[in-house]
Amino acid sequence: MARSKPSSRRSPSRWLATLLATTSMVSSAQAVYYKIGTDAEIKESARTLAYDLMLQYKGNQTGEIPGILPGPPTEHKGDYYWWEGGAMMGTYIDYWFLTGDPSYNHVIMEGMLHQTGPNHDYMPPNHTASLGNDDQGFWGMSAMLAAENKFPDPPEDKAQWLALAQGVWVTQANPDRHDGTCGGGLRWQVPPTNMGYNYKNTIANACFFDLGARLARYTFNQTYADYASENFQWLWDVGYIDHEDWRVYDGGHVEANCTDINKAQFSYNAALLLHGSAFMYNYTNGSALWKDRVDNLLDGMKRDFFADGAAFELPCEGRKGACTADMLSFKGYVHRWLSTVTKVAPHTKPIILPMLRKSAEAAVKQCTGGETGRKCGFYWTGGEYIDVAVDKTSGAGEAMSVLAAVSSLLIEKTPDLANNITGTSRGDPNAGSRSRGVIEPLEPITAGDRAGAAILTILILGIAISTWGWMSFAE
Ligand SMILES: *[C@@H]1O[C@H](CO)[C@@H](O)[C@H](O)[C@H]1NC(C)=O
Ligand SMILES: *[C@@H]1O[C@H](CO)[C@@H](O)[C@H](O)[C@H]1NC(C)=O
Ligand SMILES: *[C@@H]1O[C@H](CO)[C@@H](O)[C@H](O)[C@H]1NC(C)=O
Ligand SMILES: *[C@@H]1O[C@H](CO)[C@@H](O)[C@H](O)[C@H]1NC(C)=O
Ligand SMILES: *[C@@H]1O[C@H](CO)[C@@H](O)[C@H](O)[C@H]1NC(C)=O
Ligand SMILES: *[C@@H]1O[C@H](CO)[C@@H](O)[C@H](O)[C@H]1NC(C)=O
Ligand SMILES: *[C@@H]1O[C@H](CO)[C@@H](O)[C@H](O)[C@H]1NC(C)=O
Repeated sequence: MARSKPSSRRSPSRWLATLLATTSMVSSAQAVYYKIGTDAEIKESARTLAYDLMLQYKGNQTGEIPGILPGPPTEHKGDYYWWEGGAMMGTYIDYWFLTGDPSYNHVIMEGMLHQTGPNHDYMPPNHTASLGNDDQGFWGMSAMLAAENKFPDPPEDKAQWLALAQGVWVTQANPDRHDGTCGGGLRWQVPPTNMGYNYKNTIANACFFDLGARLARYTFNQTYADYASENFQWLWDVGYIDHEDWRVYDGGHVEANCTDINKAQFSYNAALLLHGSAFMYNYTNGSALWKDRVDNLLDGMKRDFFADGAAFELPCEGRKGACTADMLSFKGYVHRWLSTVTKVAPHTKPIILPMLRKSAEAAVKQCTGGETGRKCGFYWTGGEYIDVAVDKTSGAGEAMSVLAAVSSLLIEKTPDLANNITGTSRGDPNAGSRSRGVIEPLEPITAGDRAGAAILTILILGIAISTWGWMSFAE
């Protein structure tokens, strides 16, 4: 995932934007195109939103590559990086689960299978040059979702959803992705030569954590839960989750032993930790430890990202043009993940469902743009459409977010998520080990290990400091 560093300047503008929007609304009140009052209206609106978003996808046309949105920007092929195709596949896997409309299932199946890479672990050689653990993780989470939602299984001779999710997890659990710097955790990038390999960030770890929590709940295999617990503990210990108010920060660099924390709060980081924690809560039969994490992260989400009712991308939304194409899609994941939290941690329903409804109402209200008069933008709190051109994209992330917000309103009507008794997807705990080694069960960490890790850290830190002068804070 590639994104530019947000400015640390605080935006003055949330109240200003609201004020401007309120005054301009008086003069240019436009009819709301999308109605979401009843289930039938929600389905009809979601159907149109899904149709419009699909117009941005070229992957099922002759000569185009299945699974991806036009891109990557680095090759001047379009606005979107590889990972966002995987996120879009997940959005349609949920769309089908929520609405029952199978219109796009064949397109999604094709895209999901085309991008698996030769070892069925979502590391296709075409994309290694920008392969982050988070990019791979987003595809893995979409495969996991297909298993949980009982999305139609691929043909027998193709990779299967559960095995694909396990393949991603196994490559990420492998010792070669874990080193002693910062006391543990995954790095952002996979190949050491990639820019950003020196950054250990929340999203890379949150993807691995979430996948582990979901595999544990699905398969009842404690090994996944052990890794997930350890990973969350690391995020806590290193201070990426604030110990006072549970704000979730972006990451830090190994040269500084991850103490140079970039405190930008992207909504998807907090939402994904909440989502994974809810699966751990469910897997542990409602443990107090995970309930506490779920409840605190949810309080933080509500406070920081829904202060004005609608989802708000805190680090960049205050200034037009400051959110990257990646960031413009985060609200959609927030809505989908929060809605799923209500299924596996039902006590959160009375808080989450009204939040999501209010936010979805704001989302559709601004979908009055373009020639169709129903194009959606990114700025939900303002109440009116702002041309997606201000953020220099064609609007796929913006459209995907509104589709997610609307379709997720049907979450209460969906069946329970499958597990390996009620589900149909075939797994393979050794998937992914063709590219990588064997996963050892976790032993409790001893004082000796910690000392060893510290020595390693000091060594690496020494090397890093000597190269400090020319190393950029690449992100
Ligand atoms: C691509 O998928 C869309 C949506 O299902 C469909 O309408 C269109 O005909 C497909 N195009 C091709 C070339 O298969
Ligand atoms: C890899 O890139 C080539 C050239 O653009 C393309 O033909 C091929 O379909 C791509 N493969 C995948 C799995 O995306
Ligand atoms: C590096 O950070 C980790 C995690 O916060 C900590 O346990 C370790 O002691 C630190 N190492 C050094 C050399 O400061
Ligand atoms: C579910 O997974 C567990 C542990 O991975 C395994 O022991 C069990 O046989 C699986 N059950 C089914 C029905 O596949
Ligand atoms: C949850 O409860 C079930 C049924 O009592 C039990 O079999 C299972 O081991 C429990 N899971 C955990 C992680 O404690
Ligand atoms: C776990 O999830 C199921 C639905 O999948 C739900 O019925 C159950 O209440 C959840 N467990 C806890 C402890 O909330
Ligand atoms: C549980 O998962 C681990 C990690 O992939 C695997 O090594 C082990 O074989 C699995 N156990 C069972 C019973 O499936």
